[in-house]
Amino acid sequence: MASLPRVTLVLGTRPEAIKLAPVILAFQASPLFETRVVLTGQHKEMVAQVMQLFQLQAQRDLELMTPRQTLTHVTCAALEGLRLEFGENRPDLVLVQGDTTTAFAAALAAFYDQIPVGHVEAGLRTNNLFDPFPEEANRRLISQVAQLHFAPTTESAKNLQASGVVGEIHTTGNTVIDALLLMAAAAPRCDVPGLDWQKHRVILATVHRRENWGAPLKHIAMGFLKVLERHPDTALLLPLHKNPTVREPLQEWLGDHPRVFLTEPLDYDRLVAAIRGCTLLLTDSGGLQEEAPSLGKPVLVLRRTTERPEAVEAGTAKLIGTSTEAIEAETCLLLENKAAYEAMAMAHNPFGDGKASERIVAASAAYLAVN
Ligand code: UD1
Repeated sequence: MASLPRVTLVLGTRPEAIKLAPVILAFQASPLFETRVVLTGQHKEMVAQVMQLFQLQAQRDLELMTPRQTLTHVTCAALEGLRLEFGENRPDLVLVQGDTTTAFAAALAAFYDQIPVGHVEAGLRTNNLFDPFPEEANRRLISQVAQLHFAPTTESAKNLQASGVVGEIHTTGNTVIDALLLMAAAAPRCDVPGLDWQKHRVILATVHRRENWGAPLKHIAMGFLKVLERHPDTALLLPLHKNPTVREPLQEWLGDHPRVFLTEPLDYDRLVAAIRGCTLLLTDSGGLQEEAPSLGKPVLVLRRTTERPEAVEAGTAKLIGTSTEAIEAETCLLLENKAAYEAMAMAHNPFGDGKASERIVAASAAYLAVN
């Protein structure tokens, strides 16, 4: 019997693990492929959590994470490690997701070995190379070497056409909705010691982006404190990223406030429960902007640019930047004005219907059958 075409999915960070988990499950469920999962190890604990939750196992882990790692280290170590992996277990197709340094290095490593690349969540653009940094450049670079472009929305498909990319563009929906629906079915409660979900209106916040390190991070933290001061019935739930460059200053500025709950990164099922239980979100994360509309929660985005204009156009997200004043004003508006809140809390999701993974598997099968 001829061997099955081998599809290797490479991932390194938590958002890639979440967004590729349903894709891996769909490939594994198909009789048409041999599926391999390779971790670069860019994130250690945060990826392990997700893998465990979706009951996934990797066939290889390059274990490249080092404390306060540089982009250069991640790129070089991933290129070297993947060259070995692809040499020993040559894939017919390599799939990467999004815009991290792992995704970029994996696409480049596959390209150097002349292996076709499929790009999940292709075509997002801010048109500002330095915001987000380095993600905007990463996703553009991946687009140039990929053959299969899986665009989450018609907007992102249009961006790819405008970029003049080579290969096939498929509009699939975002796989994060597949992941969210898998989890929402099972999500437990998000218990946090001392936090009373009945008594408090909970604001769920996350911050980690490089553009927000330093002064913007301080302005953001001060904005959080202003909101808490004006609204004694609110509490702030802030799961900290593992990166010490963001967690240490946030701990210093917010750690002593009685209504601030700093936690470790939440497991994805608890995070989904927290989105469901909160009043609104303040975040610089891309994934949360996509997830929150499915659960009818307004998102105030702590950035100046977004590659997800669909959420802003649909009215479920608003870009507010990082100034203390904007955070205070916009958050208090939603807390005080029922009509403003309800206008944003519409449970309409422009990002997908939960079937993106199926479409990615079908398009990959068709591509491999022809090539
Ligand atoms: C990376 C991605 C970003 C993505 C984010 C999600 C790049 C350039 N950036 O940024 O696009 O949105 O992940 O989280 O690829 N650490 C741990 N344990 C972990 C994870 C991280 O200790 O499980 C620490 C390490 O000290 C590491 C640091 O966090 O040096 C930063 O991780 P890194 O991957 O460099 O950047 P992120 O800011 O996480």
